[in-house]
Amino acid sequence: MAKLWKGRFKDEIDSFVDEMNASITFDHELFPFDIEGSIAHVKMLARQGIISEKEGEKIVTALYEIEKELSSPEHKFPIEDEDIHMHIEKKLIKKLGDTGKKVHTARSRNDQVALDVRMYIKAKSIEIGETIFKLQQAILSKGEEYLDVIIPGYTHLQRAQPVLFSHHLFAYYEMLNRDFTHFVEAYREADHMPLGSAALAGTTLNIDREFVKNFLGFHFLTENSMDAVSDRDFILIFLNASAILAMHLSRMAEELILWSSKEFDLVEIAERYTTGSSIMPQKRNPDLAELVRGKTGKIYGNLVSLLTTMKGLPLTYNKDLQEDKEPLFDSVKNILLSLRAIEKMLSTLKIKKENTKKILTGGFLTATDLAEYLVKKGIPFRDAHSIVGKIVADAEEKGVELHQLSLEEMKNYSDKIEKDVYKYLKPETSARLRNIPGGTSPEQVKKMLYKYRNQLEWRKKFIKNSFQPY
Ligand code: ARG
Repeated sequence: MAKLWKGRFKDEIDSFVDEMNASITFDHELFPFDIEGSIAHVKMLARQGIISEKEGEKIVTALYEIEKELSSPEHKFPIEDEDIHMHIEKKLIKKLGDTGKKVHTARSRNDQVALDVRMYIKAKSIEIGETIFKLQQAILSKGEEYLDVIIPGYTHLQRAQPVLFSHHLFAYYEMLNRDFTHFVEAYREADHMPLGSAALAGTTLNIDREFVKNFLGFHFLTENSMDAVSDRDFILIFLNASAILAMHLSRMAEELILWSSKEFDLVEIAERYTTGSSIMPQKRNPDLAELVRGKTGKIYGNLVSLLTTMKGLPLTYNKDLQEDKEPLFDSVKNILLSLRAIEKMLSTLKIKKENTKKILTGGFLTATDLAEYLVKKGIPFRDAHSIVGKIVADAEEKGVELHQLSLEEMKNYSDKIEKDVYKYLKPETSARLRNIPGGTSPEQVKKMLYKYRNQLEWRKKFIKNSFQPY
């Protein structure tokens, strides 16, 4: 069958045009949404008397058949059909003849593609939200399993202060909570139904947009036909949410890589999520974590790619907009892979408890605790800081830990130091005393674990509701 738009053309179109112009090689991913959108549209056309009831029924039945055909893995999407919208329409016409030709009444591919992508984003936002949820569950289980483990918290990748391993992990729980919210926002932004905008200016036919909106489960109508067919900010918001999430996952991945190296030797990634080397028989590499880190580049790139495509486009639809889909599909695919990879590695992760103890020594991790001990004895913090600086230098010179200095040695720097100082020099005490909201004491961390568990319990019950308007 020739091109559906060939009416005004005299010459044959060069096949090179298909090669560049066609989007069906990738937009076939939208087919379930395209069909659902067409069904809503056709039902509306019949209700409004724009086509007959009978025609409406025939088209809907044929659309369901086409959906089945397209779901088969053997189905081929021919490049001559240009895009998924025309592929489906052509099949419809082949099945129904003139009746099939009525499906595109009061509709343009411009509002049709905007609809499909909005539906796609709504579905994927929920899927990503659910996958974030699973990773958060894994974080809580791991945090609970190792509640008794203290590790050094780092700044500048230098050992800084003792923290609970769970406190460190729960930092990612918080980040993922915000990521979840970002995808809820992406969903809500996409939740405006554009059909009826037609090419750019709406239609003279008496359509019912409200019906289509409700039928497809949208909460809002787009309110300017020109905006509806030309803007893609709802995709950008989704790509932005993806970029930020990828950044968080990449940081987790980086820590898994660092911690599983012999240099840190804090954790062991389960063998089934590691890979070997083709030449070095001894190797076991954290490839999955590296790929999560690596994919972040593409996921950022997808955001920048579409931002750049949009810049400077005059209203309304321009074919440039067809370039919105590959970055979107790529981000979805890689975000889901990355979330699952981290979730799998984390759920099976083992902490080498003995080694965490070793690295708690040697870094004077409780120096701040000593300074705060002096503050409690009435010394201004700045002076306390300087006194402890000298004590640390002394210990370093003698090659000992703070708690290995004698009371006399410490008293040389301040006579406020008493025998009770020693308990403040232990990592356990250090963590235990940081008992303020948001702090790393076991009491606070357990409180947070309890809060997070309830939060997820709630989210599990109402995950779909989270995406509804306020
Ligand atoms: N394949 C096109 C896209 O993805 C569909 C819209 C085509 N509209 C047009 N006026 N050529 O953007």
